[in-house]
Amino acid sequence: MKYVLVCLTACLFFAAPAMADDSAELYAKSCKGCHGADGSKVIMGMTRPINAMPMEEVKAALDGYKAGTYGGQKKVIMERTVKPLSQEQLDALAAYVDSL
Ligand code: HEC
Repeated sequence: MKYVLVCLTACLFFAAPAMADDSAELYAKSCKGCHGADGSKVIMGMTRPINAMPMEEVKAALDGYKAGTYGGQKKVIMERTVKPLSQEQLDALAAYVDSL
């Protein structure tokens, strides 16, 4: 039992920073170019700075773009961006954007 607990603690300890790194990398690769390193860029005067959006709204937006149920005139750009990403990646990105 003790052994299991030690393992669980160690796994959580190592898994959490690894996940943060992954989403930071993914953001830098897939989002930064348009939304800015800190998520504050307003694109063509039509988006909100995503770093100022509550996490639930970022998540709802990303889920909606993936499902094709959210967005404005330029939603195709975002739909293409999020389509290849998994639900876990979108959740991690929403959390990462919230931390910016
Ligand atoms: C090629 C440029 C581009 C890239 C790359 C990009 N976005 Fe966007 N993003 C946009 C545009 C343009 C919009 C507005 C789309 C619309 O009309 O709905 C937008 C909208 C959004 C919104 C909703 C903003 C609002 O006001 O409702 C969120 C959240 C968002 N992007 C997050 C991301 C994340 C996270 C990534 C990386 C996975 C990303 N974007 C990558 C251009 C981009």
